[in-house]
Order: sequence, then structure tokens, then C-alpha cells
Amino acid sequence: MNILLGVSGGIAAYKAADLVRRLRERDCAVRVVMTAAATAFVSPLTFQALSGHPVRTALLDPAAEAGMDHIELARWADRVLLAPATADLIARLAAGLADDLPTTLVLATAAPLYLAPAMNQQMWRHPATQENLERLRGRGVQVLGPGVGSQACGDHGPGRMLEPAELVAALLAADPGLDSGPLTGVRTLVTAGPTREPLDPVRYLGNRSSGRMGYAVATALAELGARVTLVSGPTALPSPAGVARVDVETAGEMHAAVLARVDAVDLFVAAAAVADYRPAAPAPQKIKKADAELVVRLVRNPDILAEVAARPSPPFTVGFAAETDRLEDHALAKLRTKRLRMIAANWVGATEGGFERSDNALTVLWPDGRRELPMMPKTQLARELALLIAERYVASS
Ligand code: PMT
Repeated sequence: MNILLGVSGGIAAYKAADLVRRLRERDCAVRVVMTAAATAFVSPLTFQALSGHPVRTALLDPAAEAGMDHIELARWADRVLLAPATADLIARLAAGLADDLPTTLVLATAAPLYLAPAMNQQMWRHPATQENLERLRGRGVQVLGPGVGSQACGDHGPGRMLEPAELVAALLAADPGLDSGPLTGVRTLVTAGPTREPLDPVRYLGNRSSGRMGYAVATALAELGARVTLVSGPTALPSPAGVARVDVETAGEMHAAVLARVDAVDLFVAAAAVADYRPAAPAPQKIKKADAELVVRLVRNPDILAEVAARPSPPFTVGFAAETDRLEDHALAKLRTKRLRMIAANWVGATEGGFERSDNALTVLWPDGRRELPMMPKTQLARELALLIAERYVASS
């Protein structure tokens, strides 16, 4: 697939470099054009090295026009992605201007247009920006994101550019026929995040899972071509692009959501931190402080993973194991007793990795093999795990 990437001038421009690398990994040909402001953030040489082609930064460039001119470039593209798309670029696109190379190419191409907005949260919320986006959506433009979270300016809120992996998944998921990942078309269910077990209408028993690991796994599997549904406990994370998300709160709800879908999937990955127990009888009213001690009786929740693996025709089932001691012994026991195809074991409660953090390490075990994946960002770790799952899934089918 030919991707024309337009980079405009925001701090997220640095992420566009990784985006180019990932698109090339997926066998896409990438040509990059930049606004003048973008070149203040990242050098065109960076994109030239990553894309393997000269980068154009000006519309009226006699040397560049003597090669592939801007009309040819617009015709060459199968998809046009503007990432990051600043508020200014979005406004100029909405007005139909052609006052620089990216806006001119957008008018000159018949290829589908995707925008990955990136800006300060107040600028994102401004009615002018929202009206401009509505106009663009009305013309068939696909707006990817933005994500919610902390921003380079110190603010918190919507306006972060989606992660490169999410943009790649969205771009390629749009035309699965053009995609050739090892899991293309594999129907996949992933669980992620914590569960909350109510004690009374205002309190719950929960755990430290942020959902990052499971969301990264869902994204990575989608990047390999899988059709992913993510059953998610409560998290603060934006939905991964190209992934269908089902929100649940309790282990009971997660159990029901998984069981309702599992017979229609080929692959199941359980990354959620599901509560093993729930309060037997949540109080109908807020529990008042009265006695010095409060005793809460807990009852067992269903083991979703074990139930899935024990079905008459189970999907290829991959579990996680979160341990504070004897990691490998406990993980192997879970692999065997739950009859899993693979298990990804991680330390929790240590000084590095595990819950909440952005990095993690995994020991991945299967009945006749193992692989150590060292400490790295969860997004990257998930990609390595997804490749390993794909390898074993393909070998087994
Ligand atoms: O979300 P993050 O902050 O990124 O943290 C990631 C993580 C540490 C939560 C993740 O990497 C992880 O280890 N997830 C599994 C956590 C867990 O509940 O492990 P466990 O060893 O207690 O459970 C074993 C397996 O059974 C898991 O696949 C779990 O999803 C599954 N399970 C457990 C209990 C239950 N009632 N139903 C289940 O399906």
C-alpha cells in the first residue's frame, strides 16, 4: 500500500518518525511531506532515512517538481495520513485552502484521507476546531483519535496524537484485503484491565491493573491482522484504533461478556487482572462506620480463562500469570492445570514492571518451549508477544 504521510508542526511530529518505520515494517511504501513548521521539530533527513525517499517541504520547489511532481504524488497515494494534524492544519483543510504542499495534495488526491489530531486540550475543545472537524467528517475524512492523557505543555485531557501502532492498525484495518499480517482475519478476544467488585454502592474491591499491557496486546494483535474484540475492565485508556471494545466492571460481567463471544473466536488472550473473589452480599446502602472491625465475607468468582480453555472446542488460549514469588513454578502450574496453549508470566509488586508501569518483562511458556522477553515498554513487549503468539498459533493450525 502506498501511504502519503503529511507531517505538520507539533511536538508529536517526533512520533511520526516511528510511524514511518512501522508502516515500512508492514510492507507499505511511504512518502513524507512536511509543513515548514514541522521541520522545526524533526529534520526532513530523519524521514528521508526512514522512508527511503527524499522528503518534500515546499510546494514551489523546482528540483522536486522535476522528479515526482505534486500531482503525481497525489495520484500515487492509496491513503493519505496527516499525523500530527495541528489545529491550524485542520482549519486550513476545512476551509479548502491549498497554501502549502500538504493542503494542496489533499485537494489533488482521490485517496481516502485520515487525520491524527494532536494539540493542546483547550485548542481541541475549542468550538472552531470541533466545527472544522465536523465539516471534514462530513466530507468523508476519518479522524483517528486523539488520545486522552498528559500533554507536553503540562495540561491533561484530550489532544494527544494516537500512538504510531494505533495509527498503523487503523490505517491497515481500513482495508484488510491489502493487509497480509500472519493473523489476518483471525477472530480474537482479549481481556484487559482490572475488575471492580462492589462492597456497597460507593466502594469496591479492585486491583492495580491499568489495562496498559492488555490494550497493548490487543493493538499488537490487530497490527498483525487479527480482528480483535477487547473486553475491558475500567481503565483510563483510549480505545485502540481498529479494535472493538466492550466495557465491563465486575468479574461476573467480564465472564458473561467473554462467554457470549468465545464460541465465535479463534484466539483468546486473557491479560485482565480478574478478581478471584467478590463480596458475598454487597450492602444496598453505604456502609456506615460503626464497630471497630468490619468483616466482609467473600465468595469465589468464576475462572474465565479456565472455563474458556475447558470448552469442547476451545480457541487457541493464552493466559497471563501475575506472581510475587516462584514466577515460573506458578506459571507452569497454571499452564498445565488450565490446559493453556501458552502463558505469559510477569512479576508484580517488584520495583520494575508489572502493574501500572509503562515497562514490563515476560517469561512466555508453552508445553514444549519458552522465551524470555526482557524489560521494555509494554507497547514493544506486546508486539514481541503477539509475534510469538502468531508463530505458535500458525504452527498449531
Ligand atoms: O494492566 P497493567 O497495569 O498494564 O498490568 C499488567 C498485568 C500485570 C495486569 C498483566 O500483565 C497480567 O499479568 N495480567 C494477569 C493478571 C492476573 O490476574 O493474573 P493471575 O495469575 O491472577 O491469573 C491468571 C490468569 O487467569 C490471567 O490470564 C487472568 O486473566 C485469568 N483469570 C484469573 C482469575 C479469574 N477469575 N479469571 C481469569 O480469567
